[in-house]
Amino acid sequence: FYQNNLDNERQTLSYDDEQEGLEKQITIHFSHVVAENTPKGLAAQKFAELVSEKTNGQVQVHIFQNGILYSDDDEYEALQRGDIEMIAPSFSKMIDTVPEWKVLDLPFIFNRNSQVEAVLAGQTSDHLLSMIKDKKVKGLSFWSNGFKQMTSDGTPLLEPEHFRGQTFRVMPGPVIEEQFRLLNARTVVMPFTEVYQGLGTREIDGQENTISNIYSKRLYRVQKHLTISNHGYLAYAVMVNQKFWNGLPEDIQEKIQEAMRETTLWNMKEAAKMNELQLQDIKENSTIQMYRLTEQQKKEWLQTFQPLYREVEEEVGRDLIELIQSPPD
Ligand code: LMR
Repeated sequence: FYQNNLDNERQTLSYDDEQEGLEKQITIHFSHVVAENTPKGLAAQKFAELVSEKTNGQVQVHIFQNGILYSDDDEYEALQRGDIEMIAPSFSKMIDTVPEWKVLDLPFIFNRNSQVEAVLAGQTSDHLLSMIKDKKVKGLSFWSNGFKQMTSDGTPLLEPEHFRGQTFRVMPGPVIEEQFRLLNARTVVMPFTEVYQGLGTREIDGQENTISNIYSKRLYRVQKHLTISNHGYLAYAVMVNQKFWNGLPEDIQEKIQEAMRETTLWNMKEAAKMNELQLQDIKENSTIQMYRLTEQQKKEWLQTFQPLYREVEEEVGRDLIELIQSPPD
């Protein structure tokens, strides 16, 4: 089915190319790795609707969800090559390209939704996006998912000591790996689309993710313990292929930017709501044991992560850390 779909896509592409002189139909192929019913999945759909509306159908966004087209391993290269025009990986997965974004992955750097919104949708977001130095891609916006929680099939995860010896799946990203190393846990880098299976076969004991990702991929069914730790934040860098972007007429670029701004604001609110509703659903309809970190436990975690703060501060500077901790509105 997907292969057929892709063949049709390619035909659309060559057909587009032939439409010289007429109002050219423009297609944005947007690949992502999560389910449709998630903050990113829904934002992609909202964006597609808004773009079509604002351009009277001239620009169409075709969405490929659940990693059916590209996975964590290869979506960025596909964007660079221009095989697809848009992706929205987590900022953690972009750290090789944008080392300054390590700051965004520091555990407990984000504490509240208003701070997240100020950083990722306010003026600070432009500053962060301008740090992408890869000439083949252009950052348009950040989309939100939510705060990350810890799950495990081993012991409950409340004290730093509880992580010792357990193996956790991590998405690609050095800060997250180091976070688990400081907790004396082992890590396995694994694409998102393989996490359910990795947990099911016990290749990994646990993982960290947002409620939305734990819910939509049914990870709570293959885990015994869930700690509401809110220790990290998962958000996405929405990027387009630069050459594709440069080839767009200016008025179309403006309409796409406008659709993106509206989607970003919508997504922030929607994401927070969604994570809350889905947490409620997991509580009511599953047997997973839930815990919430106490202030004292959080202090112990933070203490454990101090070397990571020092390391990242040395690399990105104190100012950037402070900007994220207290962003201008
Ligand atoms: C993950 O790999 O766990 C997430 O980045 C997946 C996603 O895109 O939300």
